[in-house]
Amino acid sequence: MKLIFLGPPGAGKGTLALRAVDILKVQQISTGSIFRAAVAAGSPLGLKVKAIMDAGKLVDDETTIALVKERLAMDDVQKGYILDGFPRTIPQAEALASFSTVDKVVNFDIPDSGVLERLGGRRVCRKCGYNFHVIFNKPSKEGICDTCGGEIYTREDDKPEAIQKRLEVYRAQTEPLIDFYRKKGLLVDIDARPLVDEIVIEFKKVLGV
Ligand code: AP5
Repeated sequence: MKLIFLGPPGAGKGTLALRAVDILKVQQISTGSIFRAAVAAGSPLGLKVKAIMDAGKLVDDETTIALVKERLAMDDVQKGYILDGFPRTIPQAEALASFSTVDKVVNFDIPDSGVLERLGGRRVCRKCGYNFHVIFNKPSKEGICDTCGGEIYTREDDKPEAIQKRLEVYRAQTEPLIDFYRKKGLLVDIDARPLVDEIVIEFKKVLGV
């Protein structure tokens, strides 16, 4: 199954994707994670995107589309994938349609208050990228990742000014994709407010898996 996870920053796309890859036996492709790994490695791509990401803005379409096109040409995603964080603009969605088909677009529905609560409390493992939360998903030992023992930090773009910018960018550039995919009959809505286990149940129900 080929899925897109669409929704505002902090809606829980990455968290549900981790559960959904187990259910569907497909790969998660997170453009945000790919960019963060490039920043951590100090590669030319990382140097190019770091300031843009820290400010909560979008990386340019040309760079992002080329990266996803290359990833979707790989063998391990021919039967299915979850695109988490792509597309984020109409030109990205149009480009995707030129090189891949999509079965469903899962729209994570959550008010801004929920976004602020989730992003304000998110903590991330520097080594494996696992997402913790200071209230909803605490690590057993403060500052240390349960999964890999890595150091836990706060993402630069989870600081208040960057969160506001990301929400503005989402409204202006990404939200129009809801109508874009609804008109194509591909959109399914998920209430992203409940805790993860409840969302998993709804996800399975709406997708019939
Ligand atoms: P990206 O990493 O994709 O950021 P995002 O879309 O803003 O999404 P997040 O990772 O912030 O949130 P999420 O919805 O995955 O929530 P999560 O599961 O972590 O992109 C980062 C940047 O990269 C962009 O700003 C841009 O610069 C660049 N970029 C990426 N893709 C791009 C593209 N296509 N084009 C251009 N630029 C691009 O959950 C959040 C928190 O809530 C966590 O702490 C989690 O533990 C907690 N939580 C999750 N679900 C629940 C729940 N149900 N109940 C309670 N707590 C929960």
